[in-house]
Amino acid sequence: MSEPVETWDAIRARRNVRTYDDRAMAPEDLDRILEAGRRSPSASNRQPWDFVLVTEPRQLQELSTVWTGARHLATAKAAIVLVLPEPESERYRLIDQYDLGQATMAMMLAATDLGIGSAHSAIGDQEACQRIVGSPPDRICAYMLGFGYPAERPLQPITKPNRRPFEEVVHRGRW
Ligand SMILES: Cc1cc2nc3c(=O)[nH]c(=O)nc-3n(C[C@H](O)[C@H](O)[C@H](O)COP(=O)(O)O)c2cc1C
Repeated sequence: MSEPVETWDAIRARRNVRTYDDRAMAPEDLDRILEAGRRSPSASNRQPWDFVLVTEPRQLQELSTVWTGARHLATAKAAIVLVLPEPESERYRLIDQYDLGQATMAMMLAATDLGIGSAHSAIGDQEACQRIVGSPPDRICAYMLGFGYPAERPLQPITKPNRRPFEEVVHRGRW
């Protein structure tokens, strides 16, 4: 059973979790994850996103086929499809992606805090995704997040993350 964790622990414990056990997630926990996304900062507070929560197993199975890296959604207990408007300009294309990244991380950390595993997925078949979630034609399905309690290791701070070394990444004052 996964224990809830504190913020610094959540930051260190979050990882992509792609296998899930059979436990259902409480609807209020899913709402908290969605609320974390809704509260995220965005450039000029534009909040370009919409979030489609999917919990129907058949729909999750369908979503798992829209990208080769989406297979984990077939066994996820829920997915959130992150939807954006068609960008107004090249500048907003970049800004919208930045905004969505922040909302994504907020949702993943809120999930981790509840002991719930989460995993990203890109989208390959845009038309299929739009059909599955019924999004309007002027919107694009940008990414998907799968959720469920981890089948394997519970979410605990990772001592040695698979990351570039701190001193290589961090530049103090000048590069
Ligand atoms: C923009 C973006 C797209 C990603 N797309 C996928 C994907 O399609 N399928 C997948 O399984 N993981 C996907 N990932 C997860 C990354 O592979 C993962 O975050 C990275 O390998 C680091 O692993 P960790 O999140 O477990 O620390 C994506 C992550 C990001 C930020």
